[in-house]
Amino acid sequence: MKIVASSLLSTFRQLRAQTAKLAKPGPSIVSPTWLQQQQRLHHCRSNMTVPTRISFTQDFFFRQLFDTESSTYSYLLADANSGEAVIIDPVLEQAKRDAQLVKDLGFTLKYAINTHMHADHITGSGWLKQLLPGCQSVIAAASGAKADIHLKEGEQVEFGRHRIDALATPGHTNGCMTYVVREQGCVFTGDTLLIRGCGRTDFQEGSSQSLYENVHSKIFTLPENFRIYPAHDYKGQLESSVWEEKQYNPRLTKSLEVFINIMDNLNLPYPKKIDASLPANRECGVYDIPKDN
Ligand SMILES: [Fe+2]
Repeated sequence: MKIVASSLLSTFRQLRAQTAKLAKPGPSIVSPTWLQQQQRLHHCRSNMTVPTRISFTQDFFFRQLFDTESSTYSYLLADANSGEAVIIDPVLEQAKRDAQLVKDLGFTLKYAINTHMHADHITGSGWLKQLLPGCQSVIAAASGAKADIHLKEGEQVEFGRHRIDALATPGHTNGCMTYVVREQGCVFTGDTLLIRGCGRTDFQEGSSQSLYENVHSKIFTLPENFRIYPAHDYKGQLESSVWEEKQYNPRLTKSLEVFINIMDNLNLPYPKKIDASLPANRECGVYDIPKDN
């Protein structure tokens, strides 16, 4: 019985060794299907490489700020050498915070710039002008809002040696601007392009077709490693990139026809603050400054 048991054990060991050898994807037993799968996977991975980000230059100051009530991002940018600064999309209720930050850092706020006439909050531009005399407000001429400077397509705003290019990207509203700092590889898209989304197009002369065409012709044609900084995010994302939105934006990766259909069927509620925000923002946000702040 001992001999039979030992022989069975030996046969079992041989079988296990052969099975293990067969399971190894060595060159002699690689099937064409397995090879094709590996090639496909490798191809996918090489196409999915995230483009290398452009680092900010040492003299470019960047600070992203957040307003929790409206989920708005504001951006303080400055030339670290000259101290000249701009703020993009300031919020009225945060104007005191922003002015204090500018003072703490020893900057001079040159411009308070809006990407568009907001419907969900009141701009902080007007109040910042009072808190930091010398600051000028900036918005697109097409917005119909009051400001010290009205921008048109292709115009520029300078602070220190840095430069912002204004691209007219109407669609969410008729006065939407996208601001590009090319040297630093960053784009401030307002509500035109959000992270994995876009602004609604059902009020303020909105047009789904214009939004789609402007995103594709003016933002998606920028270098793919440019960082996208939107005016809002409701899910905690801070930034995206041209590459990411070209790959993953669930609306703007579709055809124009499908996109228009999506936008026509969002069934969004009437914006809560629109009745207060639009009249105030038409006046640069100066007539409803909270007295207790
Ligand atoms: Fe908006």
